[in-house]
Parts: sequence; C-alpha cells; structure tokens
Amino acid sequence: MLGLVVLLVLGCLSQGVWGCSCGQRHPQSAYCNADFVIRARFIGKTQQKAEEPGRVTYEVKTTKIFKAPDGMDDIQFLSTPAMESLCGYEHKMSNKSQAFLITGHVMNGNLQIDQCNFIVPWASLSVAQRKGFQEVYPKSCSCSIVPCYSGTCSLESDNQCLWTDVLVNWMEPLNGSQSKYMACVDQGSGLCSWESQKPSAIAARNKAAASGSAAE
Ligand SMILES: *[C@@H]1O[C@H](CO)[C@@H](O)[C@H](O)[C@H]1NC(C)=O
Ligand SMILES: *[C@@H]1O[C@H](CO)[C@@H](O)[C@H](O)[C@H]1NC(C)=O
Repeated sequence: MLGLVVLLVLGCLSQGVWGCSCGQRHPQSAYCNADFVIRARFIGKTQQKAEEPGRVTYEVKTTKIFKAPDGMDDIQFLSTPAMESLCGYEHKMSNKSQAFLITGHVMNGNLQIDQCNFIVPWASLSVAQRKGFQEVYPKSCSCSIVPCYSGTCSLESDNQCLWTDVLVNWMEPLNGSQSKYMACVDQGSGLCSWESQKPSAIAARNKAAASGSAAE
C-alpha cells in the first residue's frame, strides 16, 4: 500500500514535468466542481486560431444543459489546449451522432474542457448516474466526496463521504459501485452519507417513507 501512495504522490509531482495528470473524481464531484455540465454531440473541430494560440475549439450540438452560468442557454463551442501534455482533450471525431456527458469550466466567458474533466459517452452512464446528473448531484453539492487511497482513511466532517472505489480499483475507480450507483446525499442538518440511486433502491426508500408517514 505504501508503494501505491508513493506512486500517487509521484504522479502528482510529475504533473507539468512529463505531462498531464489528473486526480480521480467521483461523477458527483465532477458535477459539483464544474461550471457547466451538458449532454452534447461533438460535430466539428477548428484548428488553432491566431487569437487563441495553443488552443483548439470543438463545435458541439448541445441537447441538454444540466448546469451552466446564469443566462447561458446554449453552448456551441468548447476550447481546449492543443497539446495533450498540457491536458488538452483530444476527441476522436468518429461518430457525430454519439452523445457525451461533458463537464467543464468557464474562464473569461470562454467554455473550456480538458482531460481532467469528466467526458464520457452518454450511453456508458448507468441509469443511476443519469439520474444523478439530472436530479441528485445538483441537490448534493453541500456534501463532499473524499477519495480514500489507503486503508486508513477517516472522515473529518459530517458532510463527507469516503470514496473507496479508488482503493478497490485505482486504475479505473469510475467502474466502482460508488461511482456507478451511489451519491453522497445530505440526510438533513448537514449529515451526508452514501445512498444508492439504483431504481430498485429508490423505489424501496419511497415505499418505506410512504408507509412511515402513513403510520404517523
Ligand atoms: C453512432 O452513434 C449512434 C448513437 O450512439 C449509434 O446509434 C450508431 O450506431 C453509431 N454509429 C457508428 C457507425 O458507430
Ligand atoms: C470498466 O468497465 C468497462 C465497461 O463496463 C469494462 O469494459 C472494463 O473492462 C472495466 N475495467 C475494469 C478494470 O474493471
């Protein structure tokens, strides 16, 4: 385990020296940390322009905005560093009808993406994650998801949930069950805990809540 920690620390230190390296993030953290979150198709790519040296711009067709700055009701262009070593996001323009979930940041009014953002085919998201981006994550940004890289993690405050997918499968923590099926949800008065967002679990909770209120 020490080896793993050393490796991760080296991974962080190497950033900027050998290239881009990003910390892993649960999809809920990706949502909460982003300035915008959309579902869109990549439809074109422009080469570097004189006014934006070192950057390329993707044209997207946005079909759903989950999060955006006030007043932004369409998103058409996303800019990224041209070089992958500077965390530039390289999109393989193979299928223009494939929808993606895209998170990114707004800098001086420009919409920006990079490799550290959560950008995945919409079809690869679980039902629980789609519901997460639409309903659950937006309500849960007061909760904080803390990655656990070693066997001795502990929480420092009530609003935190430990993300152990990184421990179980640190190469692909996004395949873990907390990433795919769970959200860290405020249970009231700032106490956050993991809650399954599988349709069956939601139905069971609703049923329990209904019978609980009927009994009162
Ligand atoms: C392109 O993506 C669409 C939507 O995901 C899919 O239905 C279609 O089969 C894909 N086409 C190819 C050639 O992969
Ligand atoms: C992660 O999930 C993808 C898609 O379900 C699968 O193809 C891949 O093998 C998984 N990787 C690991 C390491 O479990």
